[in-house]
Amino acid sequence: MSRKETFSADWLQQREPFDSAARNGAAGRMQLLSRLTPPQGSPWRVIDLACGTGANLRWLAPRLGGPQQWLMVDHDAALLRRIPWDFSGAGFQASTVRQQTDLARQLDTLPWHAAHLVTASALLDLVSAEWLQRLVAHAIAARAALLFALSVDGRHQWTPQDPHDATVDRLFRAHQRRDKGFGPALGADAIAACRRALRAAGYRVFTTSSDWVLDGHEQPQAAALQRALIGGMAAAAREQDPASQATLQAWCERRQAAVADSRLRVGHVDLLALPPH
Ligand SMILES: C[S@@+](CC[C@H](N)C(=O)[O-])C[C@H]1O[C@@H](n2cnc3c(N)ncnc32)[C@H](O)[C@@H]1O
Repeated sequence: MSRKETFSADWLQQREPFDSAARNGAAGRMQLLSRLTPPQGSPWRVIDLACGTGANLRWLAPRLGGPQQWLMVDHDAALLRRIPWDFSGAGFQASTVRQQTDLARQLDTLPWHAAHLVTASALLDLVSAEWLQRLVAHAIAARAALLFALSVDGRHQWTPQDPHDATVDRLFRAHQRRDKGFGPALGADAIAACRRALRAAGYRVFTTSSDWVLDGHEQPQAAALQRALIGGMAAAAREQDPASQATLQAWCERRQAAVADSRLRVGHVDLLALPPH
């Protein structure tokens, strides 16, 4: 059965500083993008898919620079309401239009032809291969650049390790492949599928890792994010295999008790794709 995937504003706020730090490591690629200036006198026209409260806008607009018009699309009206109409600073001025759209059903209705850049952060693992093909086809037809940030690649590296990390990982990965409203989800395979489709269309594709590094010993916020992730992973794993309830509960309790002394690396990838010359 298909389901509607919702994310709380608190969760998005909790992850934003870690997203931002992870993306800073991949920021070198931004020079390639900012060399692609829109036609003279025209502002950057950007579509931000599944924009949440606008974390991608906050990270990207200052780095893109200059005048920008952002179409901010999400199905969650409460998240969209938190996005400012104008977001400007030294060297950049971004105006926003907020649009409530169910991207699973209404992808084809967006103004693709007008876009210079199509972007999303923390979205691709939710979508299906068929949906991704449609998105890529629209971007290719518009000759738009693409920037997909923070797509999970399936890696969870714990230090120190726990004997049941691998079990939780396996169940969590299987759960990621469930339908999140877009059809069977690509999960950690999304980046490879996206890269293949864009290369086949002649796009130049660059990928950089943008891992979260959550050291509970160094940062209370990292311990808190670990706590949230542990809860989420255990719940997903339980849903995937209810018979493992006792093992998962014990893993969850050990992990929660150890956050202040644990380090977790969560693998993410940023993908930038530029249209053929
Ligand atoms: C992990 S959050 C990422 C939000 C934002 N890009 C960020 O980086 O903070 C995923 C976003 O996808 C949105 N979403 C999920 N399914 C959707 C759908 N069918 N149509 C539109 N938005 C959707 C959620 O509302 C949420 O804002």
